[in-house]
Amino acid sequence: MGDLAQKPLLEKAPTTHAGLLAWVEEVAELTQPDRIYWVDGSEEENTRLTDELVAAGTLTRLNPELFPNSFAAFSDPADVARVEEQTFICSENKRDAGFTNNWMAPAEMKEKLRGLFSGSMRGRTMYVIPFVMGHLDAEDPKYGVEITDSAYVVASMRIMANIGTAVLDKMTETNAFFVPALHSLGAPLEAGQADVPWPCNPDKWIVHFPEERSIWSFGSGYGGNALLGKKCYALRIASVMARDEGWLAEHMLILKLTSPEKKKYYISAAFPSACGKTNLALLDPTIKGWEVETLGDDITWMRIGKEGELRATNPEAGLFGVAPGTGWGTNPNAMRAIAKGHSIFTNVALTDDGGVWWEGMTDEVPAHLTDWQGNSWTPDSDKPAAHPNSRFCTPISQIDMLAEEYYSPEGVELSAILFGGRRKTTVPLVTQARSWTNGIFMGSTLSSETTAAAAGQVGVLRRDPMAMLPFIGYDAGDYLKHWISVSGKANPERLPHIFLVNWFRRTADGGFAWPGFGDNARVLKWAIERIEGKADAIETPIGFVPAGHSLDLTGLDLTHAHVEDAVRVDREEWDAELASIEEWYAKFGDSLPEALRSELDALKERMADH
Ligand code: GTP
Ligand code: MN
Ligand code: MN
Repeated sequence: MGDLAQKPLLEKAPTTHAGLLAWVEEVAELTQPDRIYWVDGSEEENTRLTDELVAAGTLTRLNPELFPNSFAAFSDPADVARVEEQTFICSENKRDAGFTNNWMAPAEMKEKLRGLFSGSMRGRTMYVIPFVMGHLDAEDPKYGVEITDSAYVVASMRIMANIGTAVLDKMTETNAFFVPALHSLGAPLEAGQADVPWPCNPDKWIVHFPEERSIWSFGSGYGGNALLGKKCYALRIASVMARDEGWLAEHMLILKLTSPEKKKYYISAAFPSACGKTNLALLDPTIKGWEVETLGDDITWMRIGKEGELRATNPEAGLFGVAPGTGWGTNPNAMRAIAKGHSIFTNVALTDDGGVWWEGMTDEVPAHLTDWQGNSWTPDSDKPAAHPNSRFCTPISQIDMLAEEYYSPEGVELSAILFGGRRKTTVPLVTQARSWTNGIFMGSTLSSETTAAAAGQVGVLRRDPMAMLPFIGYDAGDYLKHWISVSGKANPERLPHIFLVNWFRRTADGGFAWPGFGDNARVLKWAIERIEGKADAIETPIGFVPAGHSLDLTGLDLTHAHVEDAVRVDREEWDAELASIEEWYAKFGDSLPEALRSELDALKERMADH
């Protein structure tokens, strides 16, 4: 094993991958951990680590009769969400990070980070987690190695990705490239210093170096900031790999829809964080004869297949889902998966019998709980029991409705792509794009009111292109051009149809204009029937919306007039919307693809004639 293996810290290294050994050594020298531990991913190891986390007070073991082998974690109240203000894309040139990202020159940022990471693992264990995003037997497996000083991260990464010995062995055998992903809580322990249940640092930095494809994350233990295979790798870094290699890394769910005639359709959908991906992916249809199965709930990698078709895979192995609003009424499939155990919950409330609860889980609110901050809670309390961005982390294999195609490295051919956001007004329940490019226009102007999934104000309208605003690892205009150029290589006949959806429109009395959740199957049915040329639509300036009678309302207490209201294109609202899109596009400067500028001009003309 050469010189490196002689060093005491590395003598038990289970690999001869020279690049990996060199990096591990470099990080150990910088961060000064007490020990290095190579994660093998075994059950036995997981038991040991979670036992240690329970002893340390980081995890609370749940009642095994309710949730076997499951744990709750409670974060520092200042470490509950992704920190977009502190997320950086450090490309060599500022221009390549684009206007949607924070940027700092790589050399300057590295110097800053070296200062922060210097000695940051003192008194702690440095865990080395080999992982692969997507299939280990894919044509070109996407490897990563996360170094972290958090055992909570190890236990969570084990759910979210394929990790451990099998991955490391194949990486070593093929001397494969891997994304080095370095994470530290930034909370060194001095001799004799007592630990806290959730160590973290008020100074947080989530940094990506796109050219060298590396990640440095400091100060936060929260999933989106700390489980580096997920947002940091499978979206931000992967989006850059995808740009260079001719594919797409997207913030999308994938589902399989089977019609009463047993015809199969695969649909992906991009909605911003906390806008309904996990719920749609696990949909329980309320219409007879239509079946939904899941392939993914958050991240989709897409490439053009051999016949010019657009193929999609899910690179993740688990769900990291928003807990509040996930309930037996709204999402029974998620609830069944969670109830099988093997899950880690973060910032939910605890029931008195050792289970978990969050707003919306059950209709009946428990008489007494311990809230996410450890306080006694009753229904009279004025604060929610669970944090609005509390999460469940559960293996995807526990979903009963998981489609077998999830396990296929080739993925599935998409028939439709949905873009959607959270809009109280303006955007109809569903609109079919006029063409593929018109659909990209819809995606590029996607907008949503902000949620608790990211730190900052909630309910503010922002544009979120393809729901990727916080995750595009390069210039946003180049990203839109890349969408156009990748699809330019597809067989136009095989390109999916694009739809814009909005489950969150309100009526004049303030209620939701559409019941949502399982009833969204009715919208999927309409979309498929449009693709098959069977459903009626009304042409509006923005695209095709359902004719009142064309949406299946069987069993619903809704009239066609309701539907007409939910799909209304309001001239006044759209005048304001066009002005806002104009402002949004201005931010791209020269980088905006010409084809999209033309789409906007054409929309303005159609709207003027409306
Ligand atoms: P990330 O995992 O953060 O990327 O978010 P997500 O897109 O998976 O969001 P999720 O499915 O977890 O939904 C978040 C919130 O949206 C929850 O509070 C849900 O109750 C609510 N929601 C989801 N689908 C619907 C719907 O069809 N109608 C309404 N009204 N609310 C919905
Ligand atoms: Mn997400
Ligand atoms: Mn989700």
